[in-house]
Order: sequence, then C-alpha cells, then structure tokens
Amino acid sequence: KTAPMIDPFGRAITYLRVSVTDRCDFRCTYCMAENMTFLPKRDLLTLEELERLCNAFIDKGVRKLRLTGGEPLMRKNVMHLIEALGRRIDDGALDELTLTTNGSQLSRFADDLHAAGVRRINVSLDTLDPQKFREITRWGDFHKVMAGLEAARKAGLKVKLNAVALAGFNEAEIPDLLRFAHGEGMDLTLIEAMPLGEVETDRSAQYLPLSKVRRDLEERFTLTDIPLDTGGPARFVRVAETGGKLGFITPLSHNFCASCNRVRLTCTGMLYMCLGQDDNADFRAVLRDNPGDDAALHHAIDNAIARKPKEHNFELDEKTSRVAVARHMSMTGG
Ligand code: GTP
Ligand code: 5AD
Ligand code: SF4
Repeated sequence: KTAPMIDPFGRAITYLRVSVTDRCDFRCTYCMAENMTFLPKRDLLTLEELERLCNAFIDKGVRKLRLTGGEPLMRKNVMHLIEALGRRIDDGALDELTLTTNGSQLSRFADDLHAAGVRRINVSLDTLDPQKFREITRWGDFHKVMAGLEAARKAGLKVKLNAVALAGFNEAEIPDLLRFAHGEGMDLTLIEAMPLGEVETDRSAQYLPLSKVRRDLEERFTLTDIPLDTGGPARFVRVAETGGKLGFITPLSHNFCASCNRVRLTCTGMLYMCLGQDDNADFRAVLRDNPGDDAALHHAIDNAIARKPKEHNFELDEKTSRVAVARHMSMTGG
C-alpha cells in the first residue's frame, strides 16, 4: 500500500472528489441560478485527462474517489471513466469508487455502475412531494428519481440520501424523509445550505441550523450519537425507532475541518484544497504541459497538498447574505 499524503496539519489526504461536469438537468434553487451559463467544452478536462489525473492521485495514496458534478451522469460517456477507475479497485489500489447524483438518470445507469465496481451512491432528495420537488429543482421529475432509487436497489447499490434542510421549504417534512429513507434501507444525511455561488433565493432567510432540526427530531425519535469519525463532514446518530443512521452536515454551525481528509477537483482541472476557500492549483496546465510525464503530476500533487489550509471561512452574514465563495457547488461538487 502507498503511504498516504500528509498535509501541513497532519491530516492524511486519502479522498478525492471529482466534478466531472458543471452541467445538470436540474437547477436546484439553492445551488444554481435559473439561467446558469455552463462552461464551454474546451475548458473541461477530457475523460482521458480525468482518468490520467485520478490515477496519479491514486498512485499518490488516494484510496477513495467520488464523482460529482453538476450531475455526473450527464457527462457524455462517463461510464468509460467509471469503468477505467473501477479497475483500480480490482488491482487493490483503490478502496472505494462512488458517486453523488441527483438520481434522474439512475434507471439507465444503475446496473452498469454496479458492474463497474460502484457499491454505494449518494442521491440528493430534498422533498417527497412531487410538486415541491418540481419547485426546488425548477423542473425535475420526482417519479423519475423514485424509479432511479428502485433501479439502484435492484442493482445492489447501497444508497444514502442527502437532503438540504431549508427553512420554510422542507423543515416540516424532515420526519417523513427520515421514515422514508430508513424504511427503504437507505441512510439519510441532512445538510446545511452553504453560501456557494450567487443564486436568486435569499440563503440567510432559508438557513436552517441543524441544531434546531435535531432538537425537533428528538421530540419524536430517540437519537443516539454514533462515535464514528469517518473523516467526513457528517456526524451520525442512530435512530432507535427506525434502526437507521442519520447524518448531520453542519459546516456553518460546527466546523469539522480538523479531521478533513479530502481535496476536490473541478471539471476544468482546478484542485481546491478546501471547499470554503478560493486557493486552487491548476492541474489542467500541468496535464497539458507534461504529456506522458506522470512525475510532473505527482510533484504538482505534493505541492498542492502542502498548501491545504487549516479550515474554511464560511460564515453566513445575516445582514448582507454575502456569498462566502463565488464558485457554485456544481463546479467543485462539494
Ligand atoms: P461521504 O463522506 O463519502 O459519505 O460523502 P459526503 O456525505 O461527504 O458526500 P456527498 O457528496 O454526499 O456530500 C454531501 C454534502 O457534504 C455536500 O453538500 C457536500 O458539499 C458536503 N461536503 C462534502 N465535503 C465537504 C467539506 O469538506 N466541507 C464542507 N463544508 N462540506 C462538504
Ligand atoms: N449548500 C449545501 N448543499 C448544497 N448542494 C448543492 N449546493 C449546495 C449548497 N449551496 C448539495 C446537493 C447535493 C450535494 C452534492 O450538495 O443537494 O446533495
Ligand atoms: Fe443539480 Fe445537484 Fe445542483 Fe440540484 S443540487 S442543481 S441536482 S447539481
């Protein structure tokens, strides 16, 4: 096994999140503006470049890869990349290959994903009401996502649902989301809306601290902390009544940077060492300037990891609802 890369704060960096496209077939109101302009194709890394770069990170000790977007399954021929990366699981270099998806294309892809070595996926679902689903995604079809979840179950993919908690939108529905997820054998993670990129909605008006959600849930459910450090942002509880696991991602009300294990690559090849900071390293240039020279890539990866900051500087300024980071989530994929 390759020794993991260690950043200046002693954290082992073993997890790479890769946005394979900034495009999405939905426009969730907290994520994108309605008239988002997407990047021209020439700015994107090709699938071959993505594969080469992911392999370089794996060679440097990354053990877990997550493909995100935008919507990763919207990227043309994305299965070629997923199949290539899946082979690194077979040869023991990679522990996990996974995906964060909106579920709209899952009916079509679930079997192929499983065959390529994907075992778990995260699916975003903020409401169980088809009308409200259309509202939050601007035009998404709830039933298509339900069909996708069913296809994932049949294919043997373990699913975790992600729901962004929004005041005045799904707050009252969270117990239903919990019962639904756990009833179907899926974990649920609740997420605080983060100030990433300009959108039309007022983020500070919709901001719902998960500490409040937790207190409300505790009136109906028995929640027991699971003392589990996944290196990820979520803190987990067991729900006695359902037997399932519930996660809380609270970047605003509780910063979890001390155990951060990840870096993230945009679809244009920029590596962000932190979701909440703008410093980045241009891997598209390194790739294109050094064809066939992976030593140059490895060197650039070391230099980038050495620049990983201690923590993010998110804060939701209630008076100005200032955006902390100009980039949308769909560029870096969280
Ligand atoms: P696992 O840790 O693999 O289970 O995945 P995850 O829950 O981190 O991944 P997922 O793609 O489902 O992301 C859920 C939410 O967590 C998204 O809104 C991400 O943007 C957010 N998130 C992921 N990593 C970070 C991080 O390092 N910092 C912050 N603030 N949020 C993150
Ligand atoms: N804040 C919090 N979560 C967001 N997502 C997209 N934009 C934001 C944001 N600004 C969520 C999606 C998906 C995950 C990858 O990120 O709902 O579940
Ligand atoms: Fe698409 Fe996900 Fe953003 Fe919604 S949150 S617009 S599904 S990338």
